[in-house]
Amino acid sequence: MSLLSRVARPVTRRIDRRIERRVDRTLRRELARHHHTTELLLGSDGRRFDRHPTPAQISAVAREVGAVTGERFARRATVQAYRTLIEVENRGVGRIAGGTSNILGKLAATPLLKPPNGDVLEIGTLYGLFAGCLARQMLRAGIPYHLTIVDPIAPVQLQEGMEITHDASGTPISEEIVRANLHYAGVQPDRTRLLRGYSTDPGIHQALAGGKFGVIVVDGDHSAPGVRADLEWVEELAAPGAVVVVDDYDDRVWPGVKEATDEHLARGDTRLTRIGQVTTTAFLRAS
Ligand SMILES: C[S@@+](CC[C@H](N)C(=O)[O-])C[C@H]1O[C@@H](n2cnc3c(N)ncnc32)[C@H](O)[C@@H]1O
Repeated sequence: MSLLSRVARPVTRRIDRRIERRVDRTLRRELARHHHTTELLLGSDGRRFDRHPTPAQISAVAREVGAVTGERFARRATVQAYRTLIEVENRGVGRIAGGTSNILGKLAATPLLKPPNGDVLEIGTLYGLFAGCLARQMLRAGIPYHLTIVDPIAPVQLQEGMEITHDASGTPISEEIVRANLHYAGVQPDRTRLLRGYSTDPGIHQALAGGKFGVIVVDGDHSAPGVRADLEWVEELAAPGAVVVVDDYDDRVWPGVKEATDEHLARGDTRLTRIGQVTTTAFLRAS
């Protein structure tokens, strides 16, 4: 080694270390900035749950979707459902109820269960965003949808036995907002019927009498009597082969859902049988 290199070495080392420290600081700052932006888009501010599932969560949902539907490409369906969820929720106002895995399970599995027609009844819509996502998922599977929504559309979520005074999103619920959200999700107005009222209202029963829905989402009153009444109604409205999606089944927050569903399935005179479960959603099939 020449004298010059020997003298210069400590100096170049110090310069290298300085450059490394600077690159390190810049990288960390950039990473923090990206993390912050991701958090703004997918974090839980303005809704109750965050929307960045871990790889393990996606794999777990995909496994369960595959087991319930027999679909080989359940992972692809789960990832596509995730894109739908993010796009529709971020375009709309308000929020979709529930954790990310729960929503993905419903969105991915329902069309894969091959409902007999695209007539969808959602009991309990909140902001209308899940209905918008489901319509898109039906189209993904090549099933033309027609949405029927039953909800009182009160300014805040109504739940028997609970007083919910405000929503995590800060947005009051209104018919205008539900319709706007369906529009943002790309749902065509002539493929939507919005019936304001409770699923137990005689007027609503009359309006839907004779209906033969291919998909029924039970997500309204989560108390045991509420779910009992809704499943009784489902018996009348489900087309042969219909997929019945019972949300928040086996969720500790809503014990009445499992209680009423299990009780209903144990009856000798029901048309409904259990297909399986993905996260906290039970899927039933009508005979
Ligand atoms: C959990 S939220 C629905 C969430 C929505 N499906 C989603 O995934 O974003 C329940 C909704 O059902 C409504 N609701 C409560 N009791 C009902 C009933 N008996 N019939 C219809 N809707 C009801 C609530 O006001 C609320 O809008």
